[in-house]
Amino acid sequence: MPGGPPGPERRDAGDGPLPNNPLGSYRRYVIEAWAVYGAITAGVFDALTQPASLSTLCQDHGWNRSALQALLRALTACAHVSVSPDGSYSLTDRGRRLFLPSSDDYIGDALSFLRTTPAYMRYPEILRGSEAIGLSEAQWSYVTRGSAMYATAGVRTLLAHFPELWGHRDLAVLDVGCGQGVYLQELSEALPHARLLGIDPTQAVVEEAKARLGVLGARAPEVRRAHLADVEGAFDVVLINQLFHMTGAKAAVAMLDQARAKLKPGGFVFVQEILVHDDNPLPALFGLNMRLLFNEGCALTRDELIDMIAGAGFQDVETHPIKELTPGLTYVSGRV
Ligand SMILES: C[S@@+](CC[C@H](N)C(=O)[O-])C[C@H]1O[C@@H](n2cnc3c(N)ncnc32)[C@H](O)[C@@H]1O
Repeated sequence: MPGGPPGPERRDAGDGPLPNNPLGSYRRYVIEAWAVYGAITAGVFDALTQPASLSTLCQDHGWNRSALQALLRALTACAHVSVSPDGSYSLTDRGRRLFLPSSDDYIGDALSFLRTTPAYMRYPEILRGSEAIGLSEAQWSYVTRGSAMYATAGVRTLLAHFPELWGHRDLAVLDVGCGQGVYLQELSEALPHARLLGIDPTQAVVEEAKARLGVLGARAPEVRRAHLADVEGAFDVVLINQLFHMTGAKAAVAMLDQARAKLKPGGFVFVQEILVHDDNPLPALFGLNMRLLFNEGCALTRDELIDMIAGAGFQDVETHPIKELTPGLTYVSGRV
């Protein structure tokens, strides 16, 4: 029957898909992120640094033809890959910039959060009071790889403020939860006169930091497996990069108290966080991922972090946005 049968199933022309249905964009970005993550993990972007046909790629890498074709079509649709009339695939400039590890703008490590997404099935149980998922020592390694990508921009922001502080001849800096030591590495290059100590309670991560910094020989910063409460000595600067969204506010306040006790008069604490942001939902979504992993995990607002630092007795609390990379990425400083 032309026009379909009459009856309750019949839809009026106005009942078609909603214009600008947000589900379409959610699906698009979720699948795009998975496609990119899959391609990075399998080495597909690296394989496309030179143009190559589907057959060559399958032959050279042992990839399944239909799976590779579907992936390349998706990446082409997202403008990360292009296909020429002769059927050879290559990276677009954008794909090259974002997804080749040798690029300064590489964002691949940040996609490691996708490893936690199947665990979201557990969120309803967590809402009813079950424990958060937590991380194994080995998983800390990939989490710290994600945060380490902010080190260059982070150190640049630090050094842009308080020049008299960084020039101090006997400068002593403590990096709490130093992860893989990337900040220590950047700081040791920028501040060869400084005494740098990194601490982290996770053995696997401490070993990675030691291996990274070992190449600096005699002037390598020291790294120890320790908590802040175990550290002796007095410092000009205590750095706390990307910790409070995992520990939650109560532990953060205790850490700020300990940090203040280890600072010399006039010393500074710098806390780096991805703060909840009105213009972009990403930091709040990141906070949700943190709550999935840690019992008190949460992304903080700017005001919460300022209040915590001021409440711990620091003076002149100031914010220093790190303009690159991620919305809401900010240092907040306080002085003893
Ligand atoms: C997200 S990573 C950040 C690493 C590094 N600060 C960076 O920004 O690249 C968090 C680090 O904090 C460490 N950590 C976890 N609990 C901690 C605690 N209570 N005190 C200090 N560090 C902690 C973890 O082992 C991990 O290396």
